[in-house]
Amino acid sequence: MFNEKAILAKWNAEMYDLNEREIDDVEFALSVIGGPPKKILEIACGSGRFLVPMAKAGHMVTGLDFDEYMLNKIQAKSAKMNNINWRKADVIRDEWGSGFDVVMLAGNFLFNLISDMDYEEAQQLLFRKAAHALVPGGNVYIDCAYTMYPEVWFNKPGEIAIWEGTDSSGNTGRMSLVNSTFDKERQIIQFTRSFKLTLNDGHIITEDIPSVKHFATLEQIHTWLSANGFIVQEEYGDYNRNPISENTNRAIIWARKI
Ligand SMILES: C[S@@+](CC[C@H](N)C(=O)[O-])C[C@H]1O[C@@H](n2cnc3c(N)ncnc32)[C@H](O)[C@@H]1O
Repeated sequence: MFNEKAILAKWNAEMYDLNEREIDDVEFALSVIGGPPKKILEIACGSGRFLVPMAKAGHMVTGLDFDEYMLNKIQAKSAKMNNINWRKADVIRDEWGSGFDVVMLAGNFLFNLISDMDYEEAQQLLFRKAAHALVPGGNVYIDCAYTMYPEVWFNKPGEIAIWEGTDSSGNTGRMSLVNSTFDKERQIIQFTRSFKLTLNDGHIITEDIPSVKHFATLEQIHTWLSANGFIVQEEYGDYNRNPISENTNRAIIWARKI
């Protein structure tokens, strides 16, 4: 007998670390957050792609994530550092803590969120929880892939491979997104996240995870921010500090809690 979920989660975490190597979003976040050292909470910190550089820059950082295989990768990247900590938490169901200068909802989390709650409600809850976790005058930092034409991005029939590779246990596989559709009325994206792994002993594991996500418009994000007492201080559509437009592909927002 073997634990299929654990094998998939370990493979997934290793592929994430191997494939997601870009640092432009991390450097940009550091430039917006600036100095002096701040108390930062990163929501869904994963394997520490943001968390570790933030700590290296001198900030006191805390990360929350519910995937222990992702969290397990942080230790080796942050040896001997005493200004970084992390814990396993479902960021929708569990407490975030309080007294932070900055809450980060980066790395596309508005879209990568996994929850059995209604997706739009869960997105809104993130803003309420961010407001509670911050000190007065603290900031939320949001960075999410964003387009004014979600129907072009998300109506994608067929299979798109995201990762292929072999993990340290010799398990080889592929994760792909299958038959993505976008319902413009409801702003709902639906697709299947599909895993196929051939284990080192020849066993094959497959898992198809149906995914239903809500695409938050900029107007909705602004509404959720102001409903929770935030004022937008900076807003960009890319890492060159261009405003959000038809030609940009991100929503990067630095908003202050009053
Ligand atoms: C694409 S990864 C991003 C990790 C990191 N922020 C980065 O940019 O590298 C998305 C992360 O969100 C986490 N996640 C999704 N839903 C979550 C939830 N409800 N509670 C805690 N973590 C969650 C996943 O476990 C995963 O590590």
